[in-house]
Parts: sequence; C-alpha cells; structure tokens
Amino acid sequence: MILPDMSTHIGAPEGAVAETVLLPGDPLRAKFVAERFLDRAVCYNEVRGMLGFTGFWKGRRLSVQGTGMGQPSMAIYATELMREYGAKSLIRIGSCGALQPEVKVRDVVIAVGASTDSRMNRVRFAEGDFAPIASARLLRAALERADRLGLAYHAGGVLSTDSFYQADPESWRLWASYGTLAVEMETSALYTLAARHGVEALALLTVSDSLVTHEETTSKERETGFDRMVELALSLAE
Ligand code: HPA
Repeated sequence: MILPDMSTHIGAPEGAVAETVLLPGDPLRAKFVAERFLDRAVCYNEVRGMLGFTGFWKGRRLSVQGTGMGQPSMAIYATELMREYGAKSLIRIGSCGALQPEVKVRDVVIAVGASTDSRMNRVRFAEGDFAPIASARLLRAALERADRLGLAYHAGGVLSTDSFYQADPESWRLWASYGTLAVEMETSALYTLAARHGVEALALLTVSDSLVTHEETTSKERETGFDRMVELALSLAE
C-alpha cells in the first residue's frame, strides 16, 4: 500500500518523522549528521532537495531535517513538522556570525532569545512585540551538557536577520551595543512558531565568522566541523 504524502513541502507519510528533530539550515548537513551520527537512517524527504532523515541515536528515534535559509523557509518546515508530523522538540543546529569580541570563531552560541529585523512578527502581532525565547527545559539541559562536555560556549541573545547582505554593513553594531551575541537568520521564527504550537525549541549555533574580527571558517568546516555542537544537540534527546 502506498501511504499518502502528508504535507506540502515534506514528501513523507504520517509517522515518518520522530518527535525530536534536529534542524540544520543546510540539507547536506542533515545528510552528514544522519550518516555520521544516526543508526539505520532513512531519508524521508527529497522535495526541493530539502533532505530529511529519521534514524536512531543511542536507541532513541530521532530526525534531522534541513530548513533552508531565512525565517520564511524555517517557518514552512517548522510548521509542517509540528502540525503534520507531531514534532515535539525542535533543535536548530546552525551557524552564526559573532557580534562580540569574546565570541570566537568555532565557539558555540546557545540562543536564549532572538531579536529580529524581520516583519514576520509585525504581521502576526500587529502593534505588539512578542519575545521569542528558548524552551527553559532544553536551555537548562544544554547549559549543563555544554559545561560537562567542556565546550567553549556563550548563552544569550541572537539577532535573526532577513538580510545576510545589509544595505548598511555597520547596522549590526546597534544590536551588538545591546549585548546581542551573534547574527543568524532563523531562530526568531523557530521560537515564535514553537510557542504557538506548544513545542520545545532551542537553537545551537557554531560561530562561522566574526563581524568584529572578519575571521571566517571555510565552507568545508561549515559542512563537517560542527561535531561538538551536534553531540550537544544529540545529548538533549537522551
Ligand atoms: N549573518 C547572517 N547569518 C549568518 C552569518 C552572518 O554573518 N554567519 C552565519 N550565519
């Protein structure tokens, strides 16, 4: 019997996705995580090349799904994972650019909350400003495990921007002056939509570049150099 595909952008039948889903932006990173960390991983989605896999880690069923770049793309995948596939715990494993001098390339940023320059929540909340925050339970667990793993990490606010290439290349300094640790492009939508669906969410971000020092990592490092962050994310599924 052929089961019907369940959602618009994920071509998988009901039950194909685990309750805990790791969310890299890059679908090839989803493949890398599945191949390197999961046992018996099965690819459940190839629609638009946005690969998704379900397998087992230490006997626990777990999925890893690419989200693409930016909040609209994240919003599509997060919504369908929660609404159509019953995901209960969404853990972003992404990259970010450092906005503070003490946040070094290859450090991990744990996003406690996400500011944004996007209009998505202006449309959603009209005159109000929603505060997109991490799940307290996942956050506490991540801090404990990061300490135990001896990771170089920072916990605090991030900026989810809609513009990788800003019209004003110095605009990050305003956010930095309010203590924002790093800039990325998805967490505000993830935290907002997780709140709407009563789902736990947390974003873990490795620092791929620094707007302060202009140091960068290579794309190969971006694809494969995130093992410790993935181990931290996986440990949250224990
Ligand atoms: N800007 C936005 N998103 C990012 C960056 C950046 O500098 N680095 C990694 N993700």
